[in-house]
Amino acid sequence: MMETQNLHWWQRGVVYQIYPRSFKDTTGNGVGDLQGIIEQLSYLNDGTPRSLGVDAIWLSPFYPSPMADFGYDVSDYCNVDPLFGDLATFDRLVEEAHRRGIKVIIDWVPNHTSDQHPWFLESRSSRDNPKRDWYIWRDPRPDGSPPNNWGSFFGGPAWTFDEHTGQYYLHQFVKEQPELNWRNPEVRAAMLDVLRFWLDRGVDGFRMDVIGLLIKDAELRDNPPDPNAPPDLPPNDIFGRQLHIYNWDQDEVHEVIREIRRVLDEYDDRCGIGEVWGELPRWIKYYGENGDELHLPFNFRLLWLPWQARAMRRSVDELEAALPGFAWPNYVLGNHDQPRLASRFGGEAQARAAALMLLTLRGTPTLYYGDELGMENGVIPPEKVQDPQGINLGVERTRDVARTPMQWNAGPNAGFCPAGVEPWLPVSADYATRNVAVQSEQPRSILNLYRKLLWYRRHSPALYGGSYRSLDVEHEDCFVYLREAGDERRLIALHFGSTPCHISIPGEQSGMVAISTYLDREGREDLSRLELRPYEGLLIEVTK
Ligand code: GLC
Repeated sequence: MMETQNLHWWQRGVVYQIYPRSFKDTTGNGVGDLQGIIEQLSYLNDGTPRSLGVDAIWLSPFYPSPMADFGYDVSDYCNVDPLFGDLATFDRLVEEAHRRGIKVIIDWVPNHTSDQHPWFLESRSSRDNPKRDWYIWRDPRPDGSPPNNWGSFFGGPAWTFDEHTGQYYLHQFVKEQPELNWRNPEVRAAMLDVLRFWLDRGVDGFRMDVIGLLIKDAELRDNPPDPNAPPDLPPNDIFGRQLHIYNWDQDEVHEVIREIRRVLDEYDDRCGIGEVWGELPRWIKYYGENGDELHLPFNFRLLWLPWQARAMRRSVDELEAALPGFAWPNYVLGNHDQPRLASRFGGEAQARAAALMLLTLRGTPTLYYGDELGMENGVIPPEKVQDPQGINLGVERTRDVARTPMQWNAGPNAGFCPAGVEPWLPVSADYATRNVAVQSEQPRSILNLYRKLLWYRRHSPALYGGSYRSLDVEHEDCFVYLREAGDERRLIALHFGSTPCHISIPGEQSGMVAISTYLDREGREDLSRLELRPYEGLLIEVTK
C-alpha cells in the first residue's frame, strides 16, 4: 500500500505557472506586474471549490532585466524590475500567498546573465579583470572564426566577438545572455548566495532555468552534425543541425546540482525543480543517485507527443517503470516556451481530456496560466512579434503565441489592462467568450472542469498519492488507468478518438462516474460496456 500521509507539499500539490508580463497589469503600462498577481490570488485559491484550487505558483522571472529575452536575461538577481514592482511588493506577494496556503516558486536563471549585469560589464572590461573568468571567453580560431561550431538556440553562432578585448564570449541564447563559468568557484558561491537571498525571504522553491547547461565540455569541442536534422531549417539554425554532445548534460553537472541541493537542504522543506531535457536514462540522473539532486526534473515527455492514446500510455508507463522508488514523477503539458496545449492537441474537447490526464496521473502536475480556460495560440501579426526566437528563426517559431494576456473578462483588453492601454502582446480574439468571468457562470465550462478536478484531487489520496497501473483495453484510442490508495480506487478512462466507442474494462463490473470532461454525466455505469464520446474522459469510482 502506498503511504499517502507523509507526502511533501511539492508531491501532493498542483503547481500553476504565471508569466508575470501577461497575467494582470495594475499600473496601466500594458505589462503585468506583481501587484496584479496579488490581486488574483483568490482566483487561484481561496480555500473553496469556487477558486481554481492550486497549491503553488511558479513565477517566471521578474528581476531587473533589459528584457532581451523577457526577463531570462537578468541584470540583478536580488531585486525586482520596476516594471513588475519592487521587493516590498514581492514580500507582500509571498505573505499573501502563504496566508492562502499557496507556496511560491520563483525562476532562477543560473546559466547566463544579461550582458548588462555588473559582473559581465566588469568581465568584458579587460582580459585581466578579476571577473574575466566568470564568463566563458576564448580566443578566435586562427582564421578569426568562433572558438567552436556551437549554435545558439535562437539562431546564429553561440559566440560573439568582443572587439575591445579581442576574444569571443559564449551565449547559447541571444548575445545579450552571456554564459557564466560554473567551473569558477567564485561564480558558484555568488549564485548560491542568490538562492539564500530568496530562501531567506520565504520562497518555497525554485524552477531552475536550463540547469543541464551549467557545465560544458572542458575542452569546448565541436558538436557533430545531426544526420536526422530536418532539411527545411532556416539557414541560421546552426543549433538545429547539430547533436548536442558537448554543450549540455555533461556528467560533471551533477556535482554542481548536488551543491545546489545542499543549499536548499539548509532550509525547511524547499523544492528544486529543474528545466532538463533529454532521453529518459540521462534525464533520470537529475534526481541524483539517491535523490540528492533535483526534487523534480521537469518531465516534458508528454508535451511533444501527438494526440494519441498509445503514445501517451507508452510514455507514462516507461517513466513509471524507470523511476527509482525515491523519485517522484511530474508532468507538464504547457509552458511559456511551447504552443498552447489546446492548439497542439486540436481543440477544447482534447484540452479537457488533457486536463483530466494531467491532474490524475501519478505525480506533480504543472499548469500553465490560461490553459484552464482552454486558451489557444494567439495570432501575432509579424510586426508585433516580440520573442527573439520568432524574430531570428521565423514568425512560425515565435513563443509569443503562448504568452498573450490572461483573459479575465469580456471588458476592454479582457480585463488584463485598463481600457485605452495597448497590452504588450495582443489579446486573443476569443476573449469575449473565453474568459474567467464568463466561464465561471457556465456550469460546464473548461474552467469549471479544472476547478472540479482540482477539488476532487485534493481530497483523493488515490489521486494525489496513490499507485498507478495502466490497463489493457481493446480500443486503440483509449488510455485507461487505475489509481489506488488503501481502499480507494479511481479509474480514469481517456478517449483520444473522434468517434464514439465502447470499451470493456478488464476485471471491473461497474463503477460510479464522478466526473466526465463534458461535466454532463454522473452515476453508475456498466464497465463491461462503457461508452465514451469523442475525446471524452471519465473519472470513475470503483470498489474492490
Ligand atoms: C529556458 C526558458 C526560456 C528562455 C531560455 C533562456 O528555456 O524557459 O524561456 O528563453 O531558457 O533563459
